[in-house]
Amino acid sequence: MEKPIEIKLAEKMGFCFGVKRAVGGVMTLKGNVDMLGPLIHNPQFVKKLEERGIRVVNDMTQISANRVIIRAHGLSNKLIEELKQKGLKIIDLTCPLVKSVQNHAKRMEDGGREVFIVGEKGHQEVETIKENLKNGLIISTLEEAKSLPFFKKIGVVAQTTQRLEHFEKIGNELKKHSEDVMLINTICNATRERQNSALKLAKEVNLMIVVGGYNSANTKQLAVLCHAIVETKHIETENELEKGWFKNKKIIGITAGASTPDSMIKKVTKKIKTIT
Ligand code: F3S
Repeated sequence: MEKPIEIKLAEKMGFCFGVKRAVGGVMTLKGNVDMLGPLIHNPQFVKKLEERGIRVVNDMTQISANRVIIRAHGLSNKLIEELKQKGLKIIDLTCPLVKSVQNHAKRMEDGGREVFIVGEKGHQEVETIKENLKNGLIISTLEEAKSLPFFKKIGVVAQTTQRLEHFEKIGNELKKHSEDVMLINTICNATRERQNSALKLAKEVNLMIVVGGYNSANTKQLAVLCHAIVETKHIETENELEKGWFKNKKIIGITAGASTPDSMIKKVTKKIKTIT
């Protein structure tokens, strides 16, 4: 008889401190609350919240409740002020570590530095850091950094979910564009721990399953990291698992993004056991 597939879980995965805090905060609320954008990048969880009467709205014009939730990725000071002007009660669930990146960036700009945010353009966290600045610039690729001119003073921060290697590469390039560079590594510890655990596990298995929202920056980064080492599949739910993926595989590794609930990790693990 063939030996059953062995499943190994990453030491650190799933909900991080900021997400636990935001989810805990939202669970104390009941109905008639609007949320500016999804609380966390996990569509299945957001659907559950909607069933509790917590409605996701895409912009200010859609707000109809008198309470509004600011999600873990934060919101710019300008928009927070606008919400206050409308007389809305604000439930601020911004992760404190995201707030700290905003503060670092602002302090550097106030100190006369040109501020660069290494991160994903269009991502709420990154755009918010930029919006709080007069002249912040988002840098996503090494090529973009290379094309920059020379500046008197530069300040650099990172989106909390960036890969360290990517941040360092861009940081080293930016050092060539000024004689006075202040580089603050603002990649959060939870991200680093999850990335390190995923990397370690990827080296021990024949296939990695990365569980998390397709719109989750940190989940996507985990998938990129694992993919460089071993065959990797990024899924949102157990329903996407395909029997064929596991053919001739002996050890399967599972990791999950910082906004992936434990219940989803369990469902994925269970389904792998039943289809292999
Ligand atoms: Fe906060 Fe880090 Fe999570 S910035 S939301 S603890 S990934």
